Amino acid sequence: MAIGVFDSGIGGLSVHRELVGRLPDANFVYLADQAMTPYGGRPGEEIVKLTRAGCERLFAQGCDLVILACNTAAAVALRRLQQTWLPDYRKRIGRPVNVLGIIVPTIEAATGLPWEQEAAHRGEKIERLDVLGIFCTAATAASRVYEIEIDKRRQDVAVFCEACPSLASAIEADAPRADLARAIDSHVASLTRRIGRPPDRAILGCTHYEITADLFRAALPPGTPLIHQPDATAAAVQLYLSRHPEYDPGQDGERRFLTTGQGGRQNGLAERFWGGPLTFEAL
Ligand code: DGL
Repeated sequence: MAIGVFDSGIGGLSVHRELVGRLPDANFVYLADQAMTPYGGRPGEEIVKLTRAGCERLFAQGCDLVILACNTAAAVALRRLQQTWLPDYRKRIGRPVNVLGIIVPTIEAATGLPWEQEAAHRGEKIERLDVLGIFCTAATAASRVYEIEIDKRRQDVAVFCEACPSLASAIEADAPRADLARAIDSHVASLTRRIGRPPDRAILGCTHYEITADLFRAALPPGTPLIHQPDATAAAVQLYLSRHPEYDPGQDGERRFLTTGQGGRQNGLAERFWGGPLTFEAL
């Protein structure tokens, strides 16, 4: 058995790398839907369909648990799939399977509160407003998931999302570093303009952006804390597995990388981030 990790492309490798670090003996199957990437500009119904198809492919590869290492899929599709598809699907395949996302652990890290804990005292005096900037895809920004869920838990955190519509595809296409830096600088400047000052903290709320985290750090004021979504997610998955022995992560340390696109070596940006050659099998 194995843990499946799903993204529209190479972005989920940022989460996968942390998962492997925490669960070195588990078997992993990574699936990149590169035939359909990017997801961030697609209509919601399409994102739901593509995400469900990705999960089914990973379950068919023997995964018990699938991690949506994609904010767009988690923001738009996860709740729908958990409520309307998974219960029947489990019955049909006759074994326990589940799908988890990356937004819940990120919000827990951003608020410092467990997910179940919504604010007890609304309307209390706020001494100091903590401004959180989130860089994400257009679909994640349109879902308003970060604003809604953080507002339920912390009234002293103000969330500003900056949609970066072409950034994930530029990263996916190994665009020149200077072009990526220019795009990131302009998104940081645009967010800063909208807030009226730089954010106090930031989240790279698209897993692709972690691959260019150094460019975000350079564009933000020095020392701006970045909430590390991959690490928060990997810690949450580790805890989840310890509480749910019905999902078997395997123990042979196997790693498979699948793509719905063209098989073979991945682009230089992905391989430098990964720290070595990365060969994907075409599905
Ligand atoms: N990496 C994804 C995310 O975290 C999706 C990027 C895309 O396909 O647009 O949102």
